[in-house]
This record gives sequence, C-alpha cells and structure tokens, in this order.
Amino acid sequence: MKSYTTLLTDLTDGILLITINREDKLNALNKMVITELSEVMDEVYNNHDIKGVIITGAGPKAFVAGADISEFKSLDREQGRTFARRGHNTFHKIEYCPKPVIAAVNGFALGGGCELAMSCHIRIAAENAKFGQPEVNLGIIPGYGGTQRMVQLIGKGKALELFMTADVIDAATAHTLGLANHVVPATDLISYSRGIITKILSKAPVAIAKVIEAVNAHFKDGVDGFETEIELFADCAATQDFVEGASAFLEKRKANFTGK
Ligand code: COA
Repeated sequence: MKSYTTLLTDLTDGILLITINREDKLNALNKMVITELSEVMDEVYNNHDIKGVIITGAGPKAFVAGADISEFKSLDREQGRTFARRGHNTFHKIEYCPKPVIAAVNGFALGGGCELAMSCHIRIAAENAKFGQPEVNLGIIPGYGGTQRMVQLIGKGKALELFMTADVIDAATAHTLGLANHVVPATDLISYSRGIITKILSKAPVAIAKVIEAVNAHFKDGVDGFETEIELFADCAATQDFVEGASAFLEKRKANFTGK
C-alpha cells in the first residue's frame, strides 16, 4: 500500500480500513483528501488483497465535517466547477467500486461528509453521529453528488427539507429516514462494520460486484436497469462460482467460492 498524508490505511483480513486523518479540522475534505481518496480507491480496484473497505474519520467527534471551508474563499464559477467535478470523480469511484464499501459514521457527517457517506454502499452510524447538508448556510448547494444520492436514499420531499432548512439530524432520525442502515454504540462501530463486510466476503465475489453494478444501473441516465440486470445475471451464470454455489446447496455443504 502507498502511504498517504491525510489518510491512514490498515489492511487486515482483506478489509481496508481508511481513516480520514485531519482530526483537528474535524476531518474536513480539502483538495488533498479528495485526491488521496481517489488514489486509495485506485488501489482498492487494483489490489487483489483488498476485498472490502470501511471509511471512517479520525477521533471521536467527526466522520467528516464537510468540504474544507477555508478553500472556499477563492472559488469563482470556473473553479467551482473544477471543485465539484473533482469530488464527483472521487465519489463515483467509491459508488461504483466492485468491492463492498461501508461508511462507519463516527460523528458529524455534514456537507461533503454526508455526501461521502452516501457514496458508500452501506452506512453504519454511531449513536453520536449527526447528518446534514448545511450548504445553503454558506450560499452554495451540495456539490459532491448529494442532491442526487440523498433523493435516491430518502426521497424528494425529505431531501429538499434537509437541503433547504440545513437541519442537522441525529443518528436515530437518519436511520428512520433510511440514510443510516444501522445505528450502533460508538465503541462497536468498526467491529459491527467489519462484521457486515465479513458476511459479504463469504458470498461469491463476482455476484457481489455484479449486484453493485446492477443497482447503480437503476440511477444511470440512458441505461435500462432491467436489461442491465439480465446481462449481469448472465455474466454470473457463466462463472464457476455459480456452479459451485448451486452444487453446494444441493449437496448440503458450504460453498467454497474462488471469485472465478
Ligand atoms: N472546513 C474547515 N474547517 C472546519 C470545518 C470545515 N467544514 N469544520 C470544522 N472545521 C474546523 C474549525 O474551523 C476548527 O478549526 P480551528 O480549531 O482551527 O478553529 C476545528 O475544525 C474544530 O471545529 P469547531 O467549529 O471549533 O468545533 P465545534 O464542536 O464547535 O463545531 C461543527 C462542530 C461541526 C458544528 C462546526 O465545526 C461546523 O459547523 N463546521 C462546518 C460544517 C459545515 O458547514 N459543513 C459543510 C461545508 S460545505
């Protein structure tokens, strides 16, 4: 693994724990964090030893308290576009990752932090987690995919209310809305997230990659998700793991998947 300035990485049992490490700035996403997250996702795509990912924030207070507001002062229209595009590209890599990615939300997930969590496949919230999109307080809108992914996760009316009021909601509310998959005590956050990834890693890897791709197809412009599902099902049907999975069931034994 490469070493990073703003990220800590730990690869244990095939699970890469990525910790955004700017605790004194509540892990705010500056340009370097966005760039390094993109680079580490390239490693996730290409390194066969990495089977799944957990993203969290350093310290007990924040997952990520948003984009780094100190970098906002100099933005004009053109730089604003570049700024948003950079975040979009990084978060797209997370969303389309063929390996499971969980956000372990250990505190504030505001603005770009909430958007980062939403780009992950699953969100586990610590009881002290807080979610919100307070951009309108600053005269902007969410710019890292939040206006789209929030609507996908919780629906238009609730999303618009969050965006327009800039309300910050607690973990229980996020769970009720469907923004957080589970809420757990802060001390259990990483082990609970590891447990979910470990369960996913016991399944056929190609099927996991294809189901991520199929679900993402639902939200892709100009793509027929039903047709995509048929093709991806066919891809799975052509794998050795499909033969193994079906045989194991019929032979009443545990499947031994190889990812082929
Ligand atoms: N960008 C840059 N710096 C940030 C930041 C952000 N999004 N969020 C927090 N920080 C910095 C603070 O400036 C402070 O730095 P300093 O110690 O050098 O002054 C440090 O992190 C600690 O934050 P602080 O505000 O003192 O903590 P708090 O407990 O009083 O408040 C929050 C916590 C999350 C409520 C508050 O930091 C906040 O509102 N942050 C901005 C949230 C936001 O609007 N995000 C969306 C951006 S689009």
